[in-house]
Amino acid sequence: MPKVTFIIDGKEQTVSFESGQLPYSHHGLPESILDVAKNLGVPVEHACGGSCACTTCHVVIRQGMQNLSDMEENEADRLDTAWDLTTESRLGCQAVVKGDIVAELPMYTRNYVQEGGAIQLGKSDRAAQAAGETK
Ligand code: FES
Repeated sequence: MPKVTFIIDGKEQTVSFESGQLPYSHHGLPESILDVAKNLGVPVEHACGGSCACTTCHVVIRQGMQNLSDMEENEADRLDTAWDLTTESRLGCQAVVKGDIVAELPMYTRNYVQEGGAIQLGKSDRAAQAAGETK
């Protein structure tokens, strides 16, 4: 029975599930970190429905990286656009849980949806200038 500990704002929340028995809630790959969170009431955000098209579900694996599915090329490509990327980063919607892990939500992806953010992948300098932003 894999155990997933989420660290959110420094507080730990641990859930567990029976492999193969978790109802698929269509949030990323079945039994992915995001799927586990959405099934068990852990507030992990997502902006693309778990289709590997944003980085809102970015998590940093503090323990148990070996208990996750291998990273596929599409996850690696998308993850490259994540804020505050680390060598322990994964996309919650793509990393399938196979054993115990500890996953921390980074500060700047955690609140992305709650703050009403739109997906801004590769925002151009021209768009930034039109919005009145400066470098
Ligand atoms: S929810 Fe969008 S990439 Fe995971």
